[in-house]
Amino acid sequence: METKKDILIMGIETSCDETSASIVLNGRKVVSNIISSQISLHQKYGGVVPEIASRKHVELMIPVIDEALDKAGIKLKDLDAIGVTYGPGLVGALLVGLSAAKGLAFAIDKPLVGVHHIEGHIAANYIQHEELEPPFICLVASGGHSHIVYVESYDKFQILGQTRDDAAGEAFDKIARAIGLGYPGGPLIDKAAGEGDPKAINFPRVYFDGGSLDFSFSGLKTAVLNHLHNLSQKGEAYDINDISASFQQAVVDVLVKNTVNAAVKMEVNKITLAGGVASNRCLRKQMKEHAKAKGIEVLYPSPVLCTDNAAMVACAAYYGFIKGTFCDLRLNAVPGLRLGEK
Ligand code: KG4
Ligand code: ZN
Repeated sequence: METKKDILIMGIETSCDETSASIVLNGRKVVSNIISSQISLHQKYGGVVPEIASRKHVELMIPVIDEALDKAGIKLKDLDAIGVTYGPGLVGALLVGLSAAKGLAFAIDKPLVGVHHIEGHIAANYIQHEELEPPFICLVASGGHSHIVYVESYDKFQILGQTRDDAAGEAFDKIARAIGLGYPGGPLIDKAAGEGDPKAINFPRVYFDGGSLDFSFSGLKTAVLNHLHNLSQKGEAYDINDISASFQQAVVDVLVKNTVNAAVKMEVNKITLAGGVASNRCLRKQMKEHAKAKGIEVLYPSPVLCTDNAAMVACAAYYGFIKGTFCDLRLNAVPGLRLGEK
C-alpha cells in the first residue's frame, strides 16, 4: 500500500498492568501517549495479580482512550487505523485492550493491526531514534522476557537467545522482594546499587556451551537467597546496597556479553535495548562500553518508552499498516504468542 498522506494510528496496550492508549503520526512522532499504571494497586501483593489487572483495565480503558484523543486534539474519525497488543501477556488483561480496539476499528470502519508485545518494545527505539532502521540486534529485557532478537527488517525477527527460566526483570523483582526493597524491584535495585560495591559478593554468571546465547537467572536468584540465608543464620546483617550492586552486576555481565556476541555473530554495528530493564543505568553504561570496543553503537529509548506503553504499539502497527497486514474482528488474545508468529 502506498502512503500518500500522513498516517495517524492509535495504539492500545493492556498486556500486563499498564493501561495505555497513544496516537502516533507516521510511525515515529508521538502525538499523545497516556499511560495509567496500576503499580500502586499491586504493590501490596509484591507482584501483578492478573484478575485485579483485568478489572482495572476495564475501568481505565475508555478514559485513557478519551484522554489520548483529547491530548492529540483529534476525533476518532481522524484515525487511519487501530493497533493493539494481542499477545503475549495476561489473557484477561489482553482481552480488555483487544475488545476496545476491535470496537473502535468497527465503529470508524478502519483497519485493525495486531501487534506482538515484544515487537512493540523493539519499535520504541524507532520513536526515540528517528533515523534508526533495521538490521540491528535488540536486547528485550523486561518482567516477562529476556530475548536477544536479530531485527532483520520491520517485520522479520530471529530470536538468537532467550532465558531458559526467569526473565531478567523477574529476577530483579524477586531479589528486591527478598531484601525488603519492594515492588517493582528493578528501579529500586538500580538505585541501591548506585551506593554499593558490585564486587562485594561474587554471584554466579551462567553461560551455556556450544555458542548458545541463552540466559538463565534462576541459579543467580538461588545464590542470592542462599547468601541472605547464611548471613541470617550467623546473625549477621547484610548490606542492601552491596547485595543490589553485586546482583545487578551479575545480571548485566551476562546480558552484555551475550548481546555483544550476537551483534558480532550477525555482523551488525547497532545494538538497541528495549523493555523495562533497558532503563537500568548499569546495563546502559556497560553495554555502551563493551560494544564500543567492537565498533558497535548502542541505542535505547527514554525510560517512559522502555516500560509498557501504547506509543510503541502504534509505531509497530504503522509498519503492519503500510504493508497491509490487517486483522479481522475475530482476532483473539494469544497469551503465549511467539515472536514472528501471526
Ligand atoms: O517492559 P515492562 O514494563 O513490562 C513487561 O513487559 O514485563 O518491564 C517491567 C520490568 C520489571 O520487572 C521492572 O522491575 C523492570 O522492568 N525494570 C528495571 C528497571 N526499571 C524497570 N529493571 C532494572 N533496572 C531498572 N531501572
Ligand atoms: Zn513489556
